[in-house]
Amino acid sequence: MTRTRYSTVAILLHWAIAALLVWNVLLGWQAEELKGAAKIAVMQLHKPLGITIMLLTLIRIAWRFVTPPPALSGHLKPWERHLARAVHILFYVLLIAIPFTGWAAVSASALIKVYPIDMFGLFDWPIIQPLYDLPAELRHDRHELIEDIHKLLAKVVIYGLIPLHVLGALKHQFLDKDNELAKMIPFLARKEPAA
Ligand code: HEM
Ligand code: HEM
Repeated sequence: MTRTRYSTVAILLHWAIAALLVWNVLLGWQAEELKGAAKIAVMQLHKPLGITIMLLTLIRIAWRFVTPPPALSGHLKPWERHLARAVHILFYVLLIAIPFTGWAAVSASALIKVYPIDMFGLFDWPIIQPLYDLPAELRHDRHELIEDIHKLLAKVVIYGLIPLHVLGALKHQFLDKDNELAKMIPFLARKEPAA
């Protein structure tokens, strides 16, 4: 049978990742404005949340192989299909690359031993040892460089992918009035007009 919507697991993962992503962006912005203990408190939540997003994204990709998603609708114009597919792939790549660069940046910092990536009191996420072992000055340079890459990649998602993706979804719902959004929010499904 051809699927008309995403599987329940894929839908739950989509909305969990979306919500955690928005939350973590807000925490990242907040951290930029703070100093001292207040900043550390925010970062101690930003880091494990980011790692969780990375793990959920890996599960989402694995799930995609087990339960393939529904095909993009046949009525989409070729440029819409290419854009939608490119945005989906870039989301997956960046939702791994962003947390990974965050993880690498904090691994290249002496402070990681004092403020580890504490996974909600369950265990400490490991550090990337070769980065921590660099000579102090080089380690500091690497920390700055990788953190800049982290922030740049986050901007690509915040100002590029999310607006394109959400505007695309809303365009289909309100202008094209097709069933695209219902694939991710099943109760929105419209009845097909009788033939
Ligand atoms: C999907 C996951 C993540 C997202 C969307 C994200 C997003 C952000 C954003 C928006 C900022 C502020 C950038 C700016 O104002 O230009 C930031 C800063 C930062 N993030 Fe992340 N981040 C994620 C995961 C992580 C992880 C897993 C770590 C470390 C384990 C991390 C470490 C950092 C650090 C060290 C900063 C700089 C804070 C500062 O010194 O001001 N991030 N992140
Ligand atoms: C902000 C964080 C979000 C992220 C990271 C995200 C990511 C993704 C990804 C990667 C896919 C492709 C799934 C696959 O085929 O494997 C997807 C599909 C979809 N998303 Fe999102 N999404 C987000 C927010 C939203 C929002 C706010 C909406 C609705 C307004 C939405 C509506 C949809 C729809 C309708 C699809 C199915 C597209 C289709 O197959 O035709 N997403 N999303």
